[in-house]
Amino acid sequence: MSDKMIVGVIGAGTMGSGIAQVAAQAGHPTVLFDTRKEAVDKAMTGLQRTLDKLVEKGKLEAGTAKAIGDRITPATEIKALAGCGLVIEAIVEDLAVKKKVFAELDALLSSDALLATNTSSLSVTAIAAACTKPGRVVGLHFFNPAPLMPLVEVVPGVATDPRACDAARLLMTAWGKVPVTCKDTPGFIVNRVARPYYGESIRLYEEGVADMATIDHALKTIGGFRMGPFELMDLIGNDINFTVTRTVWESFFYEPRYRPSFTQQRMVEAGWLGRKTGRGYYIYDEKGQSAVGAAPSVAPELGARIVERVLAMLINEAADALHLGVASKEDIDLAMTKGVNYPKGLLAWADEKGAAHWLSVLDALQAEFGEDRYRPSPLLRRMARNAQRFH
Ligand code: NAI
Repeated sequence: MSDKMIVGVIGAGTMGSGIAQVAAQAGHPTVLFDTRKEAVDKAMTGLQRTLDKLVEKGKLEAGTAKAIGDRITPATEIKALAGCGLVIEAIVEDLAVKKKVFAELDALLSSDALLATNTSSLSVTAIAAACTKPGRVVGLHFFNPAPLMPLVEVVPGVATDPRACDAARLLMTAWGKVPVTCKDTPGFIVNRVARPYYGESIRLYEEGVADMATIDHALKTIGGFRMGPFELMDLIGNDINFTVTRTVWESFFYEPRYRPSFTQQRMVEAGWLGRKTGRGYYIYDEKGQSAVGAAPSVAPELGARIVERVLAMLINEAADALHLGVASKEDIDLAMTKGVNYPKGLLAWADEKGAAHWLSVLDALQAEFGEDRYRPSPLLRRMARNAQRFH
């Protein structure tokens, strides 16, 4: 796939405009299509502003920025995508709407063109089934903001031709991204493995182990995470985070490890969605500053207990994803460091104290609460028994 290949992007919203910028920066003539003219106009204005800012900051030469902008063509008719060698779809997260678009693309594009979906929660297999040639359909899951976040989860559906997957991986590397390959399972890698960061932190708060500010502070200062779970949920939006949690739980046929919490549901019902509404777990002023005040001091023993419990649950998810062949150990660790900025890969982190240590934390939690939520992955148990390391 040369950089002369025309790349089409469908959906000129948050993700689509970011992906169009990435494709154009990699040198491709890019067509950005949306059915709503106002969405395309807004995206083109936003892209121009972004490129201007990059020039102001000295990150791009003015000539280069102009060339990137000139490579992006706006469109409001799907037929403008006819000459594309790759089309990446980033429209509304609705299976019926996506299937309709893929059926149209399947008929419109040449038979060797690659079709990709940026879906975060739907099945790539289900979307591909709308095409007569499902072998050329692959998931390319970018992270927000697409131009800045290096990770792309490459997801073959059941019918995807391995060559399409390899071509997509190579192309993402050529675009300067870090591709990881994962099975077409709910949440892919990141949105599955990261669930306990929120879920177990909320659980600690509900049990009254500590307040939110203390939990956030412990995970940042002792755990080394860039943001605490509650401030991160406020940034993502509690409505979005709740929907993802609920979707993952339902898609796993109500697996108790992913069960949503009433705390989160009540935040959504109250309209306390986070930064965007000025109030979530914290209250924000008009400058977006949280009114929590000075960071609390955390007694080391309590802080260490919080971090150990959340980390044990995260490591268990990572181990179970490996156990079930969702991705390789290398890709599971890359996904969490390059997609959500974790300080270390979870499996590498597990190796520091060893599988037996994490198993004992989980066994103790399961004995105390009697809940299936804390059951250790069979892989963690096996590794502890054989004193094995992940890496
Ligand atoms: P958005 O709401 O910002 O943009 C969606 C755009 O698609 C809108 O401009 C809309 O007019 C357009 N659209 C809807 N139906 C269309 C159709 N039939 N044909 C052409 N255009 C159509 O949505 P956002 O946040 O960019 O998400 C897009 C996709 O990316 C979703 O599948 C979402 O799950 C996924 N995603 C979102 C992430 C995020 O952080 N927002 C991260 C990774 C994936």
